Amino acid sequence: MIREIVTYPNPILRKKSQDVTVFDKELHTLLDDMYETMLHESGVGLAAIQVGVDKNVLIINLPIEDEDDPNCGKQLKENLIEAINPVITHKDGAQVFNEGCLSVPGFHAEITRAKHIVVEYHNRDGQKQKMECEGFLAVAWQHEMEHLSGHVFIENLSYLKRKKFEKEWKRQLKNKN
Ligand code: CO
Repeated sequence: MIREIVTYPNPILRKKSQDVTVFDKELHTLLDDMYETMLHESGVGLAAIQVGVDKNVLIINLPIEDEDDPNCGKQLKENLIEAINPVITHKDGAQVFNEGCLSVPGFHAEITRAKHIVVEYHNRDGQKQKMECEGFLAVAWQHEMEHLSGHVFIENLSYLKRKKFEKEWKRQLKNKN
């Protein structure tokens, strides 16, 4: 089922998510709904809080970047990452990516994050997983985990850029209503 995406500045996005303790059908439905919602909105990642559920759950499904791969540009379900209670256990380096977010639709900004990370999490069945990655995938992990801590990527902007964004965002919201 497609769920409604919570958009900025809804205070729900500032909630700190809680760890999942039971890996049951309700969790699986949440994950399935998040996947459906993310694809419907043409996103590459989604945190549970973005559909109003304050649980430490996120999904990431990046399109294939390898140009020699016949599926280049496609988001294959076999590459879907479902992460429960993720923790970044190591990070180093720095990289800048132009990020967007389904909760801040239409806005993009360059954000600096760690280049290389190691993350530990559980899959939908509660089994422990560990992933080491860099590049866009590392960016996606950090972006989604920021949502779980109650933050949105625009909070990383410099004071002036943030001010400019808020002004522009207010104008957009006014035009929509
Ligand atoms: Co986001």
